[in-house]
Amino acid sequence: MNILLVGSGGREHALAWKMAQSPLLTRLVAAPGNPGVARLCEVRPELKADDAEGLAALAREIRADLVVVGPEVALAAGLADRLAAAGIPCFGPTAKAAQLETSKAFSKDLLQRHGIPTAGYGVHETVADAKAALDRFQPPYVIKADGLAAGKGVAISPDRRDAEAEIERMLGGRFGAAGARVVIEEFMDGEEGSLFALCDGQRAVLFGGAQDHKRAFDGDLGPNTGGMGAYSPAPVFTPDLVQQADERIVQPTLRAMAAEGAPYRGVLYAGLMATADGPKVVEFNARFGDPECQVLMMRMAGDIVPYLLACARDDVSGLKPPQFKPQTVICVVLAAKGYPDSPLEGSIIRGAEQDFGPHVQVFHAGTRRRSDGQLAAAGGRVLNVCAEGQDIDEARQRAYAAIRQIDWPGGFHRTDIGWRALER
Ligand code: AMP
Ligand code: GLY
Repeated sequence: MNILLVGSGGREHALAWKMAQSPLLTRLVAAPGNPGVARLCEVRPELKADDAEGLAALAREIRADLVVVGPEVALAAGLADRLAAAGIPCFGPTAKAAQLETSKAFSKDLLQRHGIPTAGYGVHETVADAKAALDRFQPPYVIKADGLAAGKGVAISPDRRDAEAEIERMLGGRFGAAGARVVIEEFMDGEEGSLFALCDGQRAVLFGGAQDHKRAFDGDLGPNTGGMGAYSPAPVFTPDLVQQADERIVQPTLRAMAAEGAPYRGVLYAGLMATADGPKVVEFNARFGDPECQVLMMRMAGDIVPYLLACARDDVSGLKPPQFKPQTVICVVLAAKGYPDSPLEGSIIRGAEQDFGPHVQVFHAGTRRRSDGQLAAAGGRVLNVCAEGQDIDEARQRAYAAIRQIDWPGGFHRTDIGWRALER
């Protein structure tokens, strides 16, 4: 099989690493890819992930039997729609179905229409309207930009003054068009987890869970980020919680999307809160989580390709439930100093490409290969150090031991990834 992989982050490096092990694979091409991906397969760095036309042309050029889409920007740009028109199977939803992620108002309205558990909310277009709506909520106030904001479009405000300032900032253009509307919603108390399901437009097969660490600094302090680390399995996902989430959230969402003419194909990422009243939706994403994908790829036993292909060909019914190793896998994100606001660009990284042994993988995210062959930082989240162990403690020790061997003064990382699991 010829496969085109779209994206350039650690998620895509992990997908490339897993797919490269598939006996079904003939040729793997990644666009744009990154220097880590380039060690595994062909890359087309000149193509950007939101260039739907260029990517569809590349899929035709390499006679792709499957296109695997990593990032949401490609979905929002309509890549799946173009590929459908060209008759090329695509792992990833149409732009319409991807609204589950690209518009929080769309997903909240869908959940409400279909009685799927989530926080109570309102959608507002003007500052006056949004401020008045705060009357209906208690602090802390949860305020979200409607559109895509790279994981940074959510504010949790401790008091009304702060909430009003956030409303002014968001509706005042801080996130551009993504902030043309804001969602204000009820604060949900509980522990969060990310649950994944592989979907064929009608049905969903659960694909494991993980827990992410969204805040930049230790102790869950600092600004929200795209994710500073993850681990799987996450103890928050008891068998009971997973079953409730499948029955009350995942399957009803698939049915709702099909009924509303936007059948959902690809991976559904359900960001869930385990509340006293059971699991509720915090958000949906239309793609694998980053860095959750990295830990899932390392934990998955067997070949991923048949699963991705079954979704893309609209039939997951013949799939066996995916198997995961019992080991715990942890991923620690190394980010450039200044991330998420203004990551320092171009600092040299040494020691990241050595062999760390059988239990550790280092995936590249925002790296660049300089003309002198050295690796340099070229983004916010730069490297993902992933390790497996018999338990969370062993996995953590291996990951942090590997990090100590990487010489990168321009970077930082959290030292407490997995703390919730360790404290249990
Ligand atoms: P989101 O981008 O929607 O996942 O939001 C980012 C983070 O904000 C989530 O991971 C939660 O930690 C937090 N958050 C979002 N919505 C809520 C809510 N309704 N209640 C409590 N925390 C929330
Ligand atoms: N790690 C969170 C996300 O991928 O959105």
